[in-house]
Amino acid sequence: MQSEQLRTASIIGTGSYAPDRVMTNADLEKIVETSDEWITTRTGIKERRIAGPEITTSEMAARAARAAMENSGVKPEEIDLIICATVTPDMFFPNTACFVQTKIGAVNAVCFDLSAACSGFLFGVETARAYIAAGTANTVLVIGADKLSSIVDWKDRNTCVLFGDGAGAAILRHREGSRGVVATRMGSNGALAEILYIPGGGSAHPAGGSTSAENPVTIRMNGRETYKHAVTAMVEASQQVLADAGVPSSEIACFIPHQANLRIIEAIASRLDVSMDRFMINLDCYGNTSAAAVAIALDEANRTGRFKQGDKILMVVFGGGLTWAASVVEW
Ligand code: ACO
Repeated sequence: MQSEQLRTASIIGTGSYAPDRVMTNADLEKIVETSDEWITTRTGIKERRIAGPEITTSEMAARAARAAMENSGVKPEEIDLIICATVTPDMFFPNTACFVQTKIGAVNAVCFDLSAACSGFLFGVETARAYIAAGTANTVLVIGADKLSSIVDWKDRNTCVLFGDGAGAAILRHREGSRGVVATRMGSNGALAEILYIPGGGSAHPAGGSTSAENPVTIRMNGRETYKHAVTAMVEASQQVLADAGVPSSEIACFIPHQANLRIIEAIASRLDVSMDRFMINLDCYGNTSAAAVAIALDEANRTGRFKQGDKILMVVFGGGLTWAASVVEW
């Protein structure tokens, strides 16, 4: 088993899906006291996609998964593990990955969800790598999917302008001669849970219970604190993972950061001393889609030729928990 235990894991295909309905900053001006100018200058977001009631998280995830299967040439029955990173599951249980399994016909897959908010997709990629390295799985579908429109307080201008819906997917498998996921750094700090969280709806404060008014089932966020920790954690994780991988930042073909706020990305670029044109950015079109954000950006970068086989990319994420991660991947 020694050689199997050391198997590398490569991303062999990607896919993504975003709902058709576009909500612009001008549309939001009609819902809350805000302006296109405020949203654009503070965040860089111009529009986001909003899923209708018929498009659940698992439906978006399944559409992204089909695109990733097509991109990689993998058939559904070859997938032996599905990891769906989400904080907006269709239901508490069964897990969303199980719904995806049925929708795409991945009859041989083991399925579970992963909860790490905006960091979920990269946590999933590292979990997939570990399963493949251990020989426990061969072909893993990792999905980041979130329908944040279902957990946003549409009366709270502090948060509702930031988020959108979507899904991104990647398929990982050992590929001879490729280093694949070269190195990953992950971190968490549960002591800061309350700067970004949903107070109600769980077992602490069940939805519909007497405490639901004080503990709403919608996102609560301290924006300034989130901003500060996001920059610090993503810069440090990027520096650490570059050192672990033995790769200088000049050798990274494309940086793919969590798509939350353009100013956060500019701060990261500045502190890493990397020019902004080497960063993949699409938050202007989608807003922050949580676990889906880096996955959709990865797929768009892949499909638009931002890197080629053999190139190294760096993905970096940050989210509620707090959680964060960075990975260097050889394509
Ligand atoms: N439109 C107009 N005014 C607004 C809006 C809005 N949509 N939202 C807040 N404001 C007001 C506030 O009420 C406040 O007014 P006050 O000063 O009278 O009380 C003022 O704007 C706050 O302005 P700033 O302090 O200049 O706002 P800031 O520069 O901190 O930007 C923002 C706010 C965009 C939320 C920023 O802090 C941020 O991006 N934080 C990171 C949050 C984030 O990305 N969260 C996503 C989830 S976590 C993740 O994915 C990384």
